[in-house]
Amino acid sequence: MSDASSKTYPPSADMAANAHVSAEKYEEMYAASIADPEGFWRREAQRIDWIKPFSEVKDIDFTLGQVKINWFADGALNVSANCIDRHLDKRGDQTAIIWEPDNPDEGARHISYRELHDETCRMANILRDLGVAKGDRVVIYMPMIPEAAYAMLACARIGAIHSIVFAGFSPDALAARVNGCEAKVVVTADFAPRGGKATPLKANADKALAQCDASVQCLVVRRTGDDVAWDDSRDRDYNVLAKDAATSCDPVTMNAEDPLFILYTSGSTGQPKGVVHSSGGYLVYAAMTHEITFDYHDGDIYWCTADVGWVTGHSYIVYGPLANGATTLMFEGVPTYPDASRFWQVCEKHKVNQFYTAPTAIRALMGQGDHFVETCDLSSLKLLGTVGEPINPEAWNWYHEVVGKGNCPVVDTWWQTETGGHMMTPLPGAHAMKPGAAMKPFFGVQPLVLDPTSGAEIEGNPADGVLCIGESWPGQMRTIWGDHARFEKTYFSDYEGYYFTGDGCKRDGDGDYWITGRVDDVINVSGHRMGTAEVESALVAHDKVAEAAVVGYPHDIKGQGIYCYVTLMSGEEPSEELRKELRDWVRNEIGPIASPDLIQWAPGLPKTRSGKIMRRILRKIAEDDYGTLGDTSTLADPSVVDDLIGNRMNK
Ligand code: WT7
Repeated sequence: MSDASSKTYPPSADMAANAHVSAEKYEEMYAASIADPEGFWRREAQRIDWIKPFSEVKDIDFTLGQVKINWFADGALNVSANCIDRHLDKRGDQTAIIWEPDNPDEGARHISYRELHDETCRMANILRDLGVAKGDRVVIYMPMIPEAAYAMLACARIGAIHSIVFAGFSPDALAARVNGCEAKVVVTADFAPRGGKATPLKANADKALAQCDASVQCLVVRRTGDDVAWDDSRDRDYNVLAKDAATSCDPVTMNAEDPLFILYTSGSTGQPKGVVHSSGGYLVYAAMTHEITFDYHDGDIYWCTADVGWVTGHSYIVYGPLANGATTLMFEGVPTYPDASRFWQVCEKHKVNQFYTAPTAIRALMGQGDHFVETCDLSSLKLLGTVGEPINPEAWNWYHEVVGKGNCPVVDTWWQTETGGHMMTPLPGAHAMKPGAAMKPFFGVQPLVLDPTSGAEIEGNPADGVLCIGESWPGQMRTIWGDHARFEKTYFSDYEGYYFTGDGCKRDGDGDYWITGRVDDVINVSGHRMGTAEVESALVAHDKVAEAAVVGYPHDIKGQGIYCYVTLMSGEEPSEELRKELRDWVRNEIGPIASPDLIQWAPGLPKTRSGKIMRRILRKIAEDDYGTLGDTSTLADPSVVDDLIGNRMNK
């Protein structure tokens, strides 16, 4: 990172002239959003349809012990009607969703807004018939198929709260989430094809449901049509029911603050937490950020490569784009199947205008060679985006030059599951981009860089510290499902009066922001967030493991890899087989995304005299940075450190 001296990429003349937000407009709108948030958001909230207009814009308190976040609270709306019905007059025949299957030979599907309406209503009626009512929870465990979007929108239509579990999670992780939100129904599919292989979703759901209340029902979409085990008392065949389901279903009137969805995400301690998002504020924020960050214009073809199992898929495949009447592409596959040109082939085939992906995918594809890109016609591309982790300048440059031919702005969007939508990003028509910088706050967002020790705000530039947000924004999470006290403690107790992001941050000499990564025990593996505590508890659940400590380490493609220090039960011998066994064990407990990259046998872990593991030291060893281990004199047994260094993996 450097400041004004490093190369910057100003907006093209065309972008500067024609984008929704120019440099002048950004300054003017940002100033207005801070000086008069009520007036600002009252106007912006008109981008969605309200069944009952709100009178009060916001009612917010960030004070520990009494945290409350309410936006547009006495207004009423329906999110599904906003994403579908209100577009029907003008866009009934326009494509809402382009679906691109895992296997390109299967052929893409184009779903118009009218079809989206009919299919969503069918799904809504089926869910209703299964007894799902307003406020009930529905877990969605699905491949990237249009039915996943129908299920989300169907829940929104009848006022049910969906909780999507990424299809890469294990049966145990699925069961924990079904139980955590006391879901009435799990919507799944027979199999999830991805990269030429098929994950047995229904079989996973069967294993999960064996650990759940017997009343939980299972609605199964036939994706591959292959045989699956069937329990007549619990399983329902979506494809059979859909044939007879009505294609109309009145949208339920919801209060702005009624939850739209719960999404479980990892924290630094304990079990994943159920992040709760609202209906009104969330939709306003998702729609606005989608339009402005990506400079989406009517008729554009927009593609976000995320999975609906993550918040990116919620806000930027489904809710934001559909609220804006956009054409959104949904891709079932992976970037390297059938080969490493798949992303670019899909861009060419569907004439994609805005393309949004993760740095880990960019790094992986960069390593495959430029010819995979160069054989495709990417002239439709107008804008590129990235999300999920800091992007290294080398990957940024490759993305900008080789994919974007130097003509497309790259929006590096920093945000979180908790924030609902983009919080910092360059805007394509307004800001001179710097490779690796998240640049500027979105409207209404007040970033603060604090000294991690004193908690004092660092004013002036440059600044280096932890990132907090000073005021609420409409897309902010409202609570942790079932545990408001944990919500307050996690986000509002470290730096009182502010929302604490968990990220480190620098502000350069120009006042532009650079995210430096997590400062807590959360690691970012291929853009997926992982609590080190979760991997540790999975490891110690194995009967040969006495103790485990997990940290991140720099990984060329994944950004961070999972480094595990494992102390075995006495009498157990380390071996390669045991390493594999532990790796498989963690995959089973959590899912493939949590698969340990490196396992080091640790006869002892560095602990303070009071028995606390000194993770700082373990991180340094994993990072290959033990010249600066710092003070080890408080360790109960300093010699364990030498042993760990001597036997470090990844040398
Ligand atoms: C964490 C949130 C937001 C959707 C995907 C991840 C990191 C995210 C960036 C970025 C640097 C980033 C942060 C953040 N992160 N985007 N553009 N630059 N870091 O959502 O799983 O909730 O993870 O991802 O560390 O706190 P998530």
